[in-house]
Amino acid sequence: MPGGSTDRPFFLEWTTLAHRIVEAVLRPGEVAVDATVGNGHDTLFLAQRVGPEGHVYGFDVQAEALARTRARLEAAAVHERVTLFLAGHEHMAEKIPRAWHGRLGAVMFNLGYLPGGTNRTCITRPETTLPALEAALYLLRPGGVLTLVAYRGHPGGAAEAEAVQQWATRLPPDRYVAARYTFCNRQRPTPELIVVHKMVSA
Ligand SMILES: C[S@@+](CC[C@H](N)C(=O)[O-])C[C@H]1O[C@@H](n2cnc3c(N)ncnc32)[C@H](O)[C@@H]1O
Repeated sequence: MPGGSTDRPFFLEWTTLAHRIVEAVLRPGEVAVDATVGNGHDTLFLAQRVGPEGHVYGFDVQAEALARTRARLEAAAVHERVTLFLAGHEHMAEKIPRAWHGRLGAVMFNLGYLPGGTNRTCITRPETTLPALEAALYLLRPGGVLTLVAYRGHPGGAAEAEAVQQWATRLPPDRYVAARYTFCNRQRPTPELIVVHKMVSA
C-alpha cells in the first residue's frame, strides 16, 4: 500500500524521527558524525545524506560494530566518504581534523549496546557519553543539530538516560534549543529522543 501502514506512524521509531530531523538540517557536501556506529544504520543514512562531496566520521569501541558497518557501507558503495574509528566518542575532538571543528552539520548518538552483538555488557556510559556530548556541541556549526536516542530498558540505561536529560536541561537557552521526545500513552520504559540545536547567534 503506498505510504505504508497507517497504524504505524514513522515517529514510532525514534531513529527514524532522528533521521527526519537531521535531514532538515544536514546539507549535501557537509561533514557529520555518527558517535555510536553500531550496525551502521545511522552511518549509512548520514553518508547518503552528505553525498559524494561530504564526509562522515564514525566511532565505536567494538571491532565487531565497525566490521558490520564497513560491510553495510561497501554494499551501498558509500564507504569512501566515511572514516571509521575504533575509539570512544569521547575522543571525537582529537580524531576529527581541526579544519572541521565548528563546521559539522550533525552529530548522532544512539546509546546502549550493539543489537545482535556478542557482548551486551559493552554499553555506552555517562562517564564517556557526557564528555562526548560536550565535544559534539563544540564541533557543530551554528545551526547544526545533535540527536541522541536513549533507552531505559537495559542495566545502566535508565541512569544514563537520566544523566543525559539533566545535561540537556542545563544547556544555556541563549545558545542552544534542547528538546526531548517521548511517548505519552505507551508503557515505560520507552526510548526517548533528545535533540539539541546550536543557535546561529551562539
Ligand atoms: C545502540 S548501538 C548503536 C546502533 C547504531 N546507531 C546503528 O545504527 O546500528 C550503541 C553502540 O555504542 C557503542 N559504544 C559503547 N561505548 C561507546 C563509546 N564510548 N564510544 C562510541 N561507541 C560506543 C557500542 O559498542 C554499540 O555498538
